[in-house]
Amino acid sequence: MTEWVPDERIAALKVPTPPGWTDVALADLHGTMSDHAHAEKKAALSALSLMSKEPSRTALVGRMAKLAREELRHLDQVLGHLRARGWELRRDLPDRYAARLLSLRRRDGPAALVDRLLCAALIEARSWERLNLLGEALEADLGVFYAELARSEAGHYRLFVELAAQECPGEDVQARLARLADAEADIIASLPHEARIH
Ligand SMILES: [Fe+2]
Ligand SMILES: [Fe+2]
Repeated sequence: MTEWVPDERIAALKVPTPPGWTDVALADLHGTMSDHAHAEKKAALSALSLMSKEPSRTALVGRMAKLAREELRHLDQVLGHLRARGWELRRDLPDRYAARLLSLRRRDGPAALVDRLLCAALIEARSWERLNLLGEALEADLGVFYAELARSEAGHYRLFVELAAQECPGEDVQARLARLADAEADIIASLPHEARIH
């Protein structure tokens, strides 16, 4: 296990965020928190969309309903922290990180579901790392908020990996996760630092 990963259960990530991201994120905290609010919104939408796509998978449907509710609670909390600072929600910007990762998905059969679940797992894992960096860098209520939220996103990472194994027993989930994590590492290393979660 690499030592920058304080929680071994998130060891899927192959590289840490390159140095300097936290400074950029904190220099425009309003922008970073706005982007974070949209990220929570998209996490809820993605959970609901997966439920629509796989209605007969009862266990998955139930987990996604709970996940969507949790992500919407996170959204509500971030909006509260924005309001407390007198900051409006900025526009949602195109998400190059997620778009590039999701473009690697296979399109048919159980492989498509495995890839969708594992891409979601990796996005949650990267969110965990970045929210944790914010939690360490920020003080007072906002630092505590981000540290707590990071733990919750780590749980979502584990949920998606578990679901991939349960729902697609014929697939080699760990091998595929490792491959997608290699790709995720390339994407994270190639994108410029911005005041965004990813
Ligand atoms: Fe969340
Ligand atoms: Fe999440």
